[in-house]
Amino acid sequence: MKFETLPGFRAFYPDECALRNFIFSKWKASANAYTFIEYDAPTLEPIELFKEKSGSEIVNQLFNFTDKGGRAVALRPEMTPSLARLIGAKANSLRLPAKWYSIGEQFRYERPQKGRLRSFYQFNVDIFGESGVGAEAELIACLIDSFKSLGLDSCDFKICLSDRTLWVLFLKTFGISDENMNSVLSLMDKAQRINVEKLKESLLEYIPDDYESFLDSLSQLIKVKNIEDLSSFFNALSFREKVVDDIESRLNDWRRLLDLVNYIGLDAYIDIDFTIVRGLAYYTGFVFEAFEADGKGRALAGGGRYDDLIHRLTGNQMSAVGFAMGDVTLIDLLRIKKKLPVFNLNPDFYLVFSDEKLRSYAMQDASVLRNAGFKIEYPFKSQSFSKSFKSLKQRDINFAILYGAEEIDKDNVKFINLKTGKENLISRANGKLVNELRKFM
Ligand code: HAM
Repeated sequence: MKFETLPGFRAFYPDECALRNFIFSKWKASANAYTFIEYDAPTLEPIELFKEKSGSEIVNQLFNFTDKGGRAVALRPEMTPSLARLIGAKANSLRLPAKWYSIGEQFRYERPQKGRLRSFYQFNVDIFGESGVGAEAELIACLIDSFKSLGLDSCDFKICLSDRTLWVLFLKTFGISDENMNSVLSLMDKAQRINVEKLKESLLEYIPDDYESFLDSLSQLIKVKNIEDLSSFFNALSFREKVVDDIESRLNDWRRLLDLVNYIGLDAYIDIDFTIVRGLAYYTGFVFEAFEADGKGRALAGGGRYDDLIHRLTGNQMSAVGFAMGDVTLIDLLRIKKKLPVFNLNPDFYLVFSDEKLRSYAMQDASVLRNAGFKIEYPFKSQSFSKSFKSLKQRDINFAILYGAEEIDKDNVKFINLKTGKENLISRANGKLVNELRKFM
């Protein structure tokens, strides 16, 4: 075909649009239950906003061009930098903590593949001005409830929890300098996906002497599954460097966060998992990703704390933590788990008439019924009753209202339940129609 949809972009036919709206409505309801308020930001931004702030992986995936005014611009690959700018600009007048959410389209020039497209929707949920782990607990709970509202549960998905703070402390004990920290973190983020030889080659650049013991420690760290093992691992490590106090204080944050998650009864959904590092450069504390329960497939959601980004962008200090859930992997999961709803795009009532002279009665009633909140359809060209009923059956429509000359003469219509075949005469006199019809629904 001559004009095809661009690779990685989707057209939404009505059924797909219904699914998208359904997901958005669940996302909105979850955000509302947690009193997150909605914001939005431009889809097109100055490219500078994303350069360095999001990390090299995302910058390589930008949809960017020079606009007619000579500005270097990019379609947003994520919401967080725009949001950080919005919050930073009002940092002094905002009531804190601020809890904001948004649902919007994002664009990344990735190789289109399962779970990854070039245009996708994200549900972004963020909290500002709260540095305690209560904010993380609130977000993790909201993320879990969003999945649950779509019919998914702990047998379907899990939240993998990790920590950039402990990652940095771990890397510091192996002598990684501040200036190399982001490069090594980015390597660690890819460690599970790239081959061992390539990893070794890149790591030797940063850890020339201690390489073997580093790998040994790394393999222990990624096996840690509970707070006791996490504690023992870091307490043993801390003898290598003078970071004992930092580690103890951080382990206390971990205990507090796990306690909070426990209080809400969500511990069954949480896995401690240090293979999670997160590709984005701005994270500073706890990070988490959601996956299918068996760990297969691409991430369903990702987030974490980013306490420096707003300062770096706007000069105003503001602690921040949030997550984004994507629609593409979510729809794949709902499909696999057979949780995709069936949408009824049919009218509540179809008004049938075989004679154009009766159209005016049907149209009058259509208006009354639509104003009462019903979905009403009638034919643009009248057709025989038999033809109408055949097509209504094919469309699986439940109820029809029949306008026959005989009935209309007495100001009546015939209500027909197409599933049971039952017919009832109903009066349309004196505005009775709506109430009469409700009796049969
Ligand atoms: P992210 O991990 O880059 O985080 O994206 C979050 C989610 O968006 C992913 O888990 C995935 O579901 C979806 N996603 C990302 N890229 C694609 C793609 N190419 N195709 C389909 N879905 C995709 C962020 O974007 C952070 N800004 C999240 C955040 C909010 N952190 C703090 N606040």
